[in-house]
Amino acid sequence: MGVLLQAEAICVTFGGLKAVDGVSFTMGAGEIIGLIGPNGAGKTTLFNALVGLQPLTSGAVRLDGETISGLKPHKVAAKGMTKTFQNAALFPDMSVAENVTTAALLRHDLKGARAKAEAVLDKLGLGPIADADVRDLTFPQKALVEMARALATEPRVLLLDEVMAALTPTEMDEVMAVIRALRSEGLSFLVVEHHMRAIMALCDRLLAVNFGRLLAQGTPREVAADPQVIEAYLGHGAAGKEGAHA
Ligand SMILES: Nc1ncnc2c1ncn2[C@@H]1O[C@H](COP(=O)(O)OP(=O)(O)O)[C@@H](O)[C@H]1O
Ligand SMILES: [Mg+2]
Repeated sequence: MGVLLQAEAICVTFGGLKAVDGVSFTMGAGEIIGLIGPNGAGKTTLFNALVGLQPLTSGAVRLDGETISGLKPHKVAAKGMTKTFQNAALFPDMSVAENVTTAALLRHDLKGARAKAEAVLDKLGLGPIADADVRDLTFPQKALVEMARALATEPRVLLLDEVMAALTPTEMDEVMAVIRALRSEGLSFLVVEHHMRAIMALCDRLLAVNFGRLLAQGTPREVAADPQVIEAYLGHGAAGKEGAHA
């Protein structure tokens, strides 16, 4: 499998704080990789660095061999990588269809964007609520609309930052089924999620970070059994708890 996404020694510092400290990894097309680590480990900062929302202090991001670090987020999205936001950044007073259409404008004129939005909403089963205002939606509906907005930019790599945070186990299963279906169409995912059950069930591989550093990578089983990973969670008092912070 060829390398689609390559992160090379990514560092992001805030003042004296190394939020991301020399993280390197590669991702193949069609992979689902989970990024785990305690709160404050640097997961969101790494995501932001990958998609151009956070300038790198040093290091490089390559997509299909092309260096994309230094590009603005919309340019990175145009190259095929985008992220969802940890706290839904939807427009609450706009309809579901309008929210998704604005994202589809990246690659289409208004007419084309409306058609793209409709296709994405149908794919995610959101057609029936296309005209609802976002503020009236349930948590799982908002999570799916977040994904729909990201998908409307037609990414090859989609970064999901805690899209399942407020969901029940059944709702999580529904979102995971959508992610798997999209992966079977060739989309690749990098996923941050607090729920270990979801992470273990969904991901082909895990990257574990703490204090901005990559502690371990491997299959979910390998990483969950890694002494340094266990220590990182024990150190935060979260080991073994259902729904422990990933
Ligand atoms: N914009 C910022 N300015 C200063 N410090 C930040 C900023 N964003 C995040 N941090 C700090 O960087 C570290 C990593 O944060 P974050 O990436 O949000 O972690 P995670 O998503 O794993 O919980 C934390 O110590 C956090 O306080
Ligand atoms: Mg975060």
